[in-house]
Amino acid sequence: MTYGRATGKVILLGEHFVVYGAPALAVPLRSRCVNVHLDYEAGSWQVPDASHSLLERMLLMVGLVPENVSLEVDGDLPLGQGLGGSAALAVALLRALGHTESRELQDRAHVLEQLSHGHPSGIDDTVVTWERPVYFIRGEGPTVLERCPSSRIWVATTGQRGSTKESVAQVRQWKTEHEDEFATMLDAAARLVQEGREDLERGRLEALGEKMTQNHALLQGLSVSTPDLDRLVDAAMAAGALGAKLTGAGLGGAIVALAPPDLDLEPALATAGADEVIAP
Ligand code: PMV
Repeated sequence: MTYGRATGKVILLGEHFVVYGAPALAVPLRSRCVNVHLDYEAGSWQVPDASHSLLERMLLMVGLVPENVSLEVDGDLPLGQGLGGSAALAVALLRALGHTESRELQDRAHVLEQLSHGHPSGIDDTVVTWERPVYFIRGEGPTVLERCPSSRIWVATTGQRGSTKESVAQVRQWKTEHEDEFATMLDAAARLVQEGREDLERGRLEALGEKMTQNHALLQGLSVSTPDLDRLVDAAMAAGALGAKLTGAGLGGAIVALAPPDLDLEPALATAGADEVIAP
């Protein structure tokens, strides 16, 4: 039996726009992980139903016949919630297969990510592989950032599975119908991320929070938010968060909120219907 583990990730700024060349800012969600246990002998599969077919395709991609192995997946990272679940499965599986060198691991994970959503920007596999906060531009190497406001980051899931593939396709369609508007939003998103990076590096968390909330408005403009996500964002803000937004692809999934020290967002998020609240 071999074993691999990987953590999740949270995008603080820039999802969707990152697919079209804008930068994005993301941090690892170190408190949550998936574990993959693999045995090179036919046997039972104990994996989440919703990940079964993806894992079969990942195994075929790495040259293994699914029927000839036993696989067990466990862990506490909510899957299908915009927290890098498919990248974490890919990286954990590759680690179970013995891949340890980060550069190679990330390249391989990127190929496996394409199984779940076509043309991923690479931000998920980058953050999940390196487990570091990154400033990321598609096609360029990631810039690893030293500061990470982990102790201030709250996540709340809706429990609704978001399909990254569908959401990315929806944005592509929206873009073809609103080319000029999209270009303006892309510029605005890029600026938010560039300035947000400086805020993060200088510890200006109030300013970073404001940019997260502005970023949520841009994502609402792309129609990838939902009433449940908006309710969680509003609840976090009403409870005193410095900023809040959906995180990941949207159409379900999760929100991320940045809180001042000592603020407990759990009661507000739970009352607003969160399926799960992940405290810092
Ligand atoms: O798969 P998720 O929900 O963690 O989000 C991926 C981020 C997107 O920007 C929506 C897609 C991408 O490839 O960057």
